[in-house]
Amino acid sequence: MKRVQVAYKDTCGVNSEELGRAGSQLALEIERMDAGDYAFTALPADMAMHERVDAVVAEKKALNPTALVVVGIGGSNLGTMAVQQAVYGTFYNEQQPEVSVYYADTVDADHTADIILLLEQKLQASESVIVAIVSKSGTTTETVANAQLFIDLLARYQGQAHTRSIVAITDEGSKLWALAQEKGFSRLAIPKDVGGRYSVFSPVGLFPLGLLGVDTKALCAGAQAMLDSCTASFADNPAALSAAVLATLYESGHTIHDTFLFSSDLEGVGKWYRQLLGESIGKEHDRDGKLVRVGITPTVSMGSTDLHSVGQLYLGGPRDKVTTFITVAQNKTELMAPAIQGKSFHAIMDAILRGTQAAYKNNGIPFMICVLPDKNAASIGQLLQWQLCQMVYLGYLLNVNPFDQPNVELYKKETRKILTHE
Ligand code: PA5
Repeated sequence: MKRVQVAYKDTCGVNSEELGRAGSQLALEIERMDAGDYAFTALPADMAMHERVDAVVAEKKALNPTALVVVGIGGSNLGTMAVQQAVYGTFYNEQQPEVSVYYADTVDADHTADIILLLEQKLQASESVIVAIVSKSGTTTETVANAQLFIDLLARYQGQAHTRSIVAITDEGSKLWALAQEKGFSRLAIPKDVGGRYSVFSPVGLFPLGLLGVDTKALCAGAQAMLDSCTASFADNPAALSAAVLATLYESGHTIHDTFLFSSDLEGVGKWYRQLLGESIGKEHDRDGKLVRVGITPTVSMGSTDLHSVGQLYLGGPRDKVTTFITVAQNKTELMAPAIQGKSFHAIMDAILRGTQAAYKNNGIPFMICVLPDKNAASIGQLLQWQLCQMVYLGYLLNVNPFDQPNVELYKKETRKILTHE
């Protein structure tokens, strides 16, 4: 397997003494990660779970679907979107794939109505459509609202047989789990201790990605290989090292972490990471219950596009940002640019990237570099696992619980109250 590389030494602005301090704090946490204390780390190698997912994928593939709708939001769809877009490219649906994919997350009537319209064309042509309802809690307002519409849509066209086209992916014991049992939908359980944003290697990601034909075995093999690196001792551990860089810089006022992706197909990965960092580290209270208001604001920038939008701010503005550049060594295609000295697009992009990094370095703006060998599933699996493990170490260093999201729960509760009483 070609390996994802992470570099930070000469560019991160944190000296070895400071890194060493963070390293000694992390020693026990690395042991805990290695011992399997965090449930998400067991997912890539959980063969029984993979078999259950594969069986449902095979069952639904036998219906010869031409479309899949993923109904879910946040941790319940961002990982799937990230992997699908990275592996298949931004224009996947336009390239007439065997199975097109649509994501119904928010309650934007126009957006959901457009998806319904597209699906109706398929259903009118007697094509089969699979609906995956993904929700850890099974009660998220947006997901409940959207799910009902897609269930009703299938029922309108397929009568009682519609139930075989629906898969509920949720906590065993949730309301959605019970509903799926009552209605006869297929069910896949999200392992109990795995939270939404840590669930991409569970049925949450594996079912939809498997149905779309993504090589989920390679995705998980990549994740497993990266887990081995991320449980190594500090000096050889890319997740612990990058967390140490972020935590040390945070203490010196670098409160923004920009993920600068020099590959258009990786935008979804940036958005997935935005949720991971935002929800895992942005906290009102620390682990001891003390009011602290900690948080690193995640931003997503696309190279080279955003050099023409926020490049000025990044280079000239406040020194409150640390950047992780993410690049891909090998694209699927190559184009030549006769107008730019006959150089290849890859060479031009590389020149822009190196030029940007040189400007950052000359201006003392800290950054790390992550290079993917390619955008194959194994590389994306490595990338996501690196970022997941980084988050656990970062939470430890900043003394916050990276697995909860109490304030998100507050807004969900208030919304339910308003909807019930107004
Ligand atoms: O990471 C999380 O736990 C959240 O972002 C959830 O994924 C998101 O709120 C959706 O929740 P649920 O999966 O319960 O519908």
